[in-house]
Amino acid sequence: AQLHTLALAAGLEYFGTATDNIELSDAALVTALSNLTEFGQITPGNSQKWDSIEPSPNTFSFEKGDAITALGAKNSQLLRCHTLVWFQQLPVWVQNGTWTNATLTAALKNHITTTMTHYKGQCYAWDVVNEALESDGSFRESVFFKTMGESYIKIAFDTAAATDPDVKLYYNDFSIENPGPKATGALNIVKSLKASGTKIDGVGLQAHFIVGSTPSKAVQIKNLESFTALGVEVAYTELDIRMTLPSTAALDAQQTTDYENTVAACVQVTNCIGVTVWDFSDKYSWVPSTFPGTGSALPFDENLVRKSAYFGIVAGL
Ligand code: XIL
Repeated sequence: AQLHTLALAAGLEYFGTATDNIELSDAALVTALSNLTEFGQITPGNSQKWDSIEPSPNTFSFEKGDAITALGAKNSQLLRCHTLVWFQQLPVWVQNGTWTNATLTAALKNHITTTMTHYKGQCYAWDVVNEALESDGSFRESVFFKTMGESYIKIAFDTAAATDPDVKLYYNDFSIENPGPKATGALNIVKSLKASGTKIDGVGLQAHFIVGSTPSKAVQIKNLESFTALGVEVAYTELDIRMTLPSTAALDAQQTTDYENTVAACVQVTNCIGVTVWDFSDKYSWVPSTFPGTGSALPFDENLVRKSAYFGIVAGL
């Protein structure tokens, strides 16, 4: 059996993948992506980010996002919508605007309300706030934090909940996959939102891992359970496991184990509900351009052939 089929049998809600608009003109890729036994969920890699959706004030551009959501609808795939409030891939008018608390609050609310209204009924989950934390667990000095303080997170979630009460609302971040100051910071975001009566349904752990330094299964389970103990669900939302190139048999074997352990950790935690890889073919991975000298991070190679890593995922499901 294949990944989404196995995930369902293991009690997850989906196994999924990110994709991006450029990939839609690659017929072989689209065929592989559209295989519902393999991928029951998709995430747009870029086309629902603020710079794509609202490039100038109150001018919205949904075409690229819609191309991905239409494919998901055609394939009967769940959609993780990504992302409403993030410090990166912001248009210049937001990043470099002259803001007051009141004007940025209004712009943030308008962005969330308009975007979520457009996609209402199409998204299974929204990543409402992405990457609000520094590695020491303190808040990142984004334009939102600098202008609005910590309250921008609550305002974002409250606006999202008011716009679409039926979609799951997630906080999403990286390097929160093992216990430590940053995971504690994310736990504190959940606690403080819940304490103030704000709806938050889940925490997305991105899981951009490195071969050989992926946290062990036991550590991942303990960490996932620290979140679910607060009454939220969790998911691995952007899984990839990169290696220093060139790949070797030893690196491939370690990567296979790392994939197995990560997926198995999610399966073993009640309320870890799904796993998404950050694209599935090395042909379209963000890794080589972002972390030069590394790559081969995904379960399918550039020719869409299943790698050893794929069978690590199979073993973990
Ligand atoms: C990445 C995309 O994959 C790239 O194509 C883009 O150039 C930069 O963003 N964390 C996230 C994702 O939440 O949105 C990022 O996606 C990867 C890191």
